[in-house]
Order: sequence, then C-alpha cells, then structure tokens
Amino acid sequence: MPLFSVPKEVAVGTAMLGVAFATGLLAGKRYPFLVFGSSKPHKSIIGKSSPLWQYILDHSLREHPVLKKLRLLTADYPWGKMMVSCDQAQFMANLIKLIKAKKVIEVGVLTGYNALSMALALPDNGRVIACDINEDYAKIGKPLWKEAGVDHKIDLRIKPATQTLDELLAGGEAETFDFAFIDADKESYNEYYEKCLRLIKKGGIIAIDNVLRGGRVLKPRKDDLETQSIHHLNEKLVRDARVNISMIPMGDGVTLVFKL
Ligand SMILES: C[S@@+](CC[C@H](N)C(=O)[O-])C[C@H]1O[C@@H](n2cnc3c(N)ncnc32)[C@H](O)[C@@H]1O
Repeated sequence: MPLFSVPKEVAVGTAMLGVAFATGLLAGKRYPFLVFGSSKPHKSIIGKSSPLWQYILDHSLREHPVLKKLRLLTADYPWGKMMVSCDQAQFMANLIKLIKAKKVIEVGVLTGYNALSMALALPDNGRVIACDINEDYAKIGKPLWKEAGVDHKIDLRIKPATQTLDELLAGGEAETFDFAFIDADKESYNEYYEKCLRLIKKGGIIAIDNVLRGGRVLKPRKDDLETQSIHHLNEKLVRDARVNISMIPMGDGVTLVFKL
C-alpha cells in the first residue's frame, strides 16, 4: 500500500507539468528571450513588461520631449506596436551622429517616431527620405515633427518604397546617403537591401529591423513567408563580401551593415 495515493489523472497531470517546467528551464538557458519575452510573435526580445526592459530605459534613455509625446500617441493605437523601440531609435540616432550623417533613408515610417529621432540627430541641412505607402499614419506624426522644429528635414514620399528608391537611383543619388533604416514589408527586405546598398556611400550603414522575428528565425514555418524572407536575407548577409555586419539582439533584432 503506497504511503500517498493520488488519482491517476493527478499523477499524469503533475508529470506533464514537470516535463513542461524542465523544458522551459532548458529553453530558457539556450534561448533566454523565450523566458523574458514569449515565443509568440512580438516586437522585442526582452518583453516590454520585463523589469530588465524598464532598467534599460531608466539607465540609458534620453528621449526628446516631443519624441516621447509621439511615442505615447502612437502606442495608443492598436497598430502602435509596429513602432520601433525607443532604445533602438536612440541607438541609431547615436550612430548617425557618430558618422556625421547628412542624408538618410527610412523604409517604413508609420507615424515617424524614428524619422523624427533621426531628423533631430541630423544637422540643420540634413535630410531624411521617409518612404511609406500609407499617409494616414504619417498625418498623425507630422504636427509633432513641426513642433520639434525639424519637419523641414523630413521628405515624406508616399508610394511603394521600391519606387522611391529606384527614383533616387535614377536621379543620380547612388553612393550619396550615409545611413538607411529598413523597417517595412518583410518580403521585400532583400530588394530594399540591394537598393539601399547602392544608395549609401562606402563607410555608410544600413540598419535592418526585425531580423530575429521574435525567435521564429530559428525554425521558420513554411507558411510564414515574412520570416522565411528575413531568414534568407540573414543567411545571405553573413556571407556578403561587400559588407561587414553585426547582428544586435535589441528590439526584435537589428543587423547593422557596414558598406566596404
Ligand atoms: C514597422 S512600421 C515602421 C515603423 C517605423 N520605422 C517607426 O519608426 O516606428 C512599417 C511601415 O511600413 C509601411 N509599408 C508597408 N509596406 C510598404 C511598402 N511597400 N512601401 C513603403 N512602406 C511600406 C507601413 O505602412 C508601415 O507604416
């Protein structure tokens, strides 16, 4: 007679919980973002409700008051989670200052949180070519670009980004840009990358967003064409002799491409 007897269902349930817990621990050791965040699609590797995320912001973020206003305004919309993370925008603004950039491109603008952040980092004669297909998002941000006093630096082009990039190339602007940020429809990333690579100068930088896709690049599903596309680009970039790269686990993963 066992000392404790439990119904079979309880024993099976407890065993399953134990296996799930052990698997979680192992997954957490190998892929810590699965513990801080979640394995489901989301924008940041470190979940935005994590105390560690708050610590990062408390100890690094110096956000312009109008940028903060735009971030809070954008976050109020159901699609607001598409916005770039504020620490990543600050990181890119610091890079822009470091390389003394004058001309930059953004592919995918939304309300322009990052476009505004870049404009604030540029000199007064600097220019952001901001590409989006949807003007409704930008209309929300535009008054704040003005309030920050940098709207004259943001040149918004509403049409498919491939078309804008082709027009810049056709207009003789190849090798004249210092920095590009790619953050639009994922299936076109390779095309954006190739065009931006022609548009930036030697020594220029391209930042490519969402390169980890909430961890889904580890095992892209056949029906997840966006993750497949990013994964193929990641595989190409690591072998691309035209550039040096760094893949940074910030936001949803950002690859910095340095043109040789
Ligand atoms: C992730 S959001 C961009 C976020 C933005 N970089 C920020 O600072 O918050 C993606 C944007 O890409 C735009 N987009 C989608 N397809 C596009 C295309 N073919 N050409 C240009 N923009 C596109 C969407 O309208 C959306 O505003």
